[in-house]
Amino acid sequence: MLAKVRSVALVGLDAHVIDVEVDIAGGLPQFSVVGLPDATVRESRDRVRSALKNTGFHFPAKRITVNLAPANVKKEGAGLDLAIAIGILVAEEVIPAERLDQCVLVGELSLDGQIKPISGALSIGLVCRERYQLLLPARNGPEAAMIDQVAVFGLHTLPEAVAFLRGERHLEPERTDRRQWCSATPQDDDYGDVRGQDHAKRALEIAAAGGHNVLMVGPPGSGKTMLAKRLPSILPLMEFDEAIETTRVHSIASQLPADHPLLTVRPFRSPHHSISDAGLIGGGTIPRPGEVSLAHNGVLFLDESPEFRRPVLDGLRQPLEEGAVILTRVSGSLRYPARFMLIAAMNPCPCGYYGYRSKECVCSPYQIRRYRAKLSGPLQDRIDIHIEVPPVPIRELHDVGAAPETSSRIRARVVEARKRQAGRYDEEGIHTNAQLKPRLVKRYCGLDADGQDILEQSMIRLGLSARAYGRILRVARTIADLAGSDRIDALHVAEAIQYRNLDRRVEF
Ligand SMILES: Nc1ncnc2c1ncn2[C@@H]1O[C@H](COP(=O)(O)OP(=O)(O)O)[C@@H](O)[C@H]1O
Ligand SMILES: [Mg+2]
Repeated sequence: MLAKVRSVALVGLDAHVIDVEVDIAGGLPQFSVVGLPDATVRESRDRVRSALKNTGFHFPAKRITVNLAPANVKKEGAGLDLAIAIGILVAEEVIPAERLDQCVLVGELSLDGQIKPISGALSIGLVCRERYQLLLPARNGPEAAMIDQVAVFGLHTLPEAVAFLRGERHLEPERTDRRQWCSATPQDDDYGDVRGQDHAKRALEIAAAGGHNVLMVGPPGSGKTMLAKRLPSILPLMEFDEAIETTRVHSIASQLPADHPLLTVRPFRSPHHSISDAGLIGGGTIPRPGEVSLAHNGVLFLDESPEFRRPVLDGLRQPLEEGAVILTRVSGSLRYPARFMLIAAMNPCPCGYYGYRSKECVCSPYQIRRYRAKLSGPLQDRIDIHIEVPPVPIRELHDVGAAPETSSRIRARVVEARKRQAGRYDEEGIHTNAQLKPRLVKRYCGLDADGQDILEQSMIRLGLSARAYGRILRVARTIADLAGSDRIDALHVAEAIQYRNLDRRVEF
């Protein structure tokens, strides 16, 4: 008999509903899967056979053909096991066929018939919305149930699934209290912990407000990691849509913590410099989102950035330009979102101590030049703010005086500044000052005579390139927004220039 059940295939971030047709015919025992399955799907046969036998179901000694349609969608992963097993039972008339009309089944089977979690549950919930009931591993239930208008049933074992589909067992649909997850989640990392570093903290506030990328230069132990890690705590909270998008990426990459069906705190990703291109940008034989996509709507921190291999840094160009990664594959192209704030950190020289009194630098001028040149190129046009992060004197670290300002207060100012930008750029299709293209810089970052004067003089005095000009204007625009001013004053320009001062030392 012929049976048809539904399952899904993941392509990039999206789930596609596919048909799993199972035909059981007489002839020599055989079990084949056709319709663009990859190796992991073909292995499904062995798991399905064992799972059925070990849970007391009859595995037909006949010719079984499984067809996955449409044939042009590449199917990968173990998530089709459950649908194939149920398909066989429908073809064998153990389960009534009508019951499957409204269902999508996903789950990996273990040999003893347990249903094991899969990746991408949120995307699967989205594609089932308003159309199908979703039967999936119990562990993935809360995640899929984040989507409303879809009935989600979490399952533990194959016999449980069969009993449910035969109407012998009642299951309650999963419920997830969205509000519980969407309310502000307290964060452990707070700028209240960082002593001193007022200059760096101010620069990061500006960066957060305008969405600017930042380069921090300082010796080891000066607090660069500490400062960067706290950036998500002053960024606006994720909107529900953003949270869904970011969670989908983490879910597809199998990186979603089991107790967190929805990520609400902006991600902070800090890949090691030995990372591969595929690890950072995404890809691989079974394509997975890379670190840039896991940082979507959050922060990507490249510590010791000159140590990253050049092709890896070059790969950042596309996500920085387009907010997404497009991977071209034989079976079509995949798109993963990758809109993040980039924070790059570096030591002033290979040994780390050039220009600081704490330790003597042992690098030659040539080594220093080469080290600094490594970052130029891929990132040069994309980093608006450069800051130096000198170590905080020990005396200040122990200072029991006034406590530093907390992240929530800084965030309140950032949110205000972002609102001003959103209003101004309503019709431009952008959100922040950092996204201003040269044409728009002209339109929105006009200076008065004083501002113009200061900028021109400083450019000459500091030997800044024409490239720096637009970046200073964008940052000045953000400083004005933080001050609640429509006009960019000379003071705003003067401050913006400070975040380019490194130009002479680290030429970009
Ligand atoms: N300004 C500061 N206030 C409080 N602690 C600090 C400060 N700067 C550094 N530290 C301490 O020093 C440690 C090392 O800082 P880290 O951020 O790892 O430095 P870097 O990344 O520049 O090498 C931090 O974990 C923190 O405990
Ligand atoms: Mg560090």
